[in-house]
Amino acid sequence: MSVPAFLEARRSIRAFTGEPVDRATLDALVEAACVAPAPHHSRPWRFVIVDTAAAKQDLATGMGAAWRADLARDGVPAARVDELVDASHRKITGAPALVLGCLTWDGLDRYPDEARQRAEFGMALLSLGAAVENLMVAAPEHGLASCWVAAPIFCPEAARDALSLPAEWLPHAMVVLGHPDPAYVGRVRPTVPLEDLRAFR
Ligand SMILES: Cc1cc2nc3c(=O)[nH]c(=O)nc-3n(C[C@H](O)[C@H](O)[C@H](O)COP(=O)(O)O)c2cc1C
Repeated sequence: MSVPAFLEARRSIRAFTGEPVDRATLDALVEAACVAPAPHHSRPWRFVIVDTAAAKQDLATGMGAAWRADLARDGVPAARVDELVDASHRKITGAPALVLGCLTWDGLDRYPDEARQRAEFGMALLSLGAAVENLMVAAPEHGLASCWVAAPIFCPEAARDALSLPAEWLPHAMVVLGHPDPAYVGRVRPTVPLEDLRAFR
């Protein structure tokens, strides 16, 4: 029983050196993302590369404001809200590059009923996940490490508007990318408890 080495090589790395990531490499990673499977031969994704200080700042500020409002509504104490939002801001502005995975309805089917419309959206979201995984799996070949960051799925409109993206591009996934900090110690990957996670019928 073994997992292919290229799959094992993708780990969530949360610390990077200051070395920038060149745009040709980022383009290569987006190309890798775009060979992922998708429903109806569609590509309901758009990828936004965020590698300028100004755009990182705008994204961190826009998503931070949305998260701050959510946390305040949840009754989280103000000092803790500051702590969480500041840490998130540092994570975004400190990353050498970020890729936002956005969903569009381009190429997807439309249904008159909500149940099938929701299923169609679910298919698109699954395919975005596959595309993001492709991108992250391709990164080590370029000497890069990555980590998926959940934030935009909670505030897609805030992320879109922060970067002045087209109205129909809704960010649902974010990956931070860079050259891995050699001092970063990744979390131990638990073994796969196959007996608990799969069934045969
Ligand atoms: C949809 C999704 C959202 C995630 N969001 C975050 C996040 O916000 N911050 C973070 O540090 N890691 C995040 N991760 C990374 C997971 O923590 C990580 O994949 C998991 O712990 C397994 O570790 P590994 O990727 O090194 O195998 C996310 C992963 C996925 C798939």
